[in-house]
Amino acid sequence: SPIIVRTVAEMREHVRAWKAAGQRVAVVPTMGALHEGHLSLVRLAQQHAERVIATVFVNPKQFAPHEDFDAYPRGEAADAEKLALVGCDLLFAPNATEMYAPGFSTLVSVSGVSEPLEGAARPQFFGGVATVVAKLFIQSQADVAVFGEKDYQQLQVVRRMARDLDIPVEIIGAPTARAEDGLALSSRNAYLSAEERAAAVALPTAMKAAAAAVAQGGPIEDAERSAVAALQAAGFGQVDYVEIREASDLSRLGPGPIGEASGRILVAAWLGKTRLIDNMAVG
Ligand code: PAJ
Repeated sequence: SPIIVRTVAEMREHVRAWKAAGQRVAVVPTMGALHEGHLSLVRLAQQHAERVIATVFVNPKQFAPHEDFDAYPRGEAADAEKLALVGCDLLFAPNATEMYAPGFSTLVSVSGVSEPLEGAARPQFFGGVATVVAKLFIQSQADVAVFGEKDYQQLQVVRRMARDLDIPVEIIGAPTARAEDGLALSSRNAYLSAEERAAAVALPTAMKAAAAAVAQGGPIEDAERSAVAALQAAGFGQVDYVEIREASDLSRLGPGPIGEASGRILVAAWLGKTRLIDNMAVG
């Protein structure tokens, strides 16, 4: 089973010993409720480092007051068991005051890539993410960090932040783990009713259709509009965004054909009370 530590000081003692023995250290930040997607990140991390730290912290700073911080699924024993099965070395599970001591006043703010899409729909979100991830990098002193492409914009924001702050960590993106029908695995899928879970497959299906239409030279604007219509026909409620953007800086593409650009379709949409996000390569 992984060593479970709750303080930065304890984690650093382990890291110091590992590094003294010439071992590389990877960190995989999570908010727990671990599923196969998270575990695939741990396995990828093991290919890049001798030691892997998973962190589990439901970060209050990235939730707006009306969001699901209290309802977010928590289960440390189950998480530790899953980490044991994949051979994760250490679980860092700090409490809120270890992360945010009284008087905590710093916000890491990344402009540009954090502003559209999730940044527009959830204005505090990336400030909270960048702050906690910068802390986890500095706390763990990891050589490598693995993030999922499932949260594609988050991956790009974290890359930008680490580069801008000269944090000596290599960021690795991992492919999205999906259920057999194509739905991306997510801790929030636990909120879906059986009926909603069946309808949710429309999300990856609509993205795939849009990506194929654009790959065949169709206009970006039409592909986006068809995807929105497909989601609504399948029973989705509000569609926060369906956009095909440039894959690395998320700048706008379209409305016409994609040409030589490398694109990404990014979607956020509501199914009942659950907000789902997903993305795929385009072109
Ligand atoms: P969380 O949603 O728990 O996700 C933790 C990591 O797992 C992220 O890098 C996310 O992209 C990845 N992940 C989630 N589902 C995945 C899937 N189906 N396939 C591959 N990877 C997947 O993202 C966060 O937590 C937080 O914002 C965090 C970075 C921990 C900062 O609080």
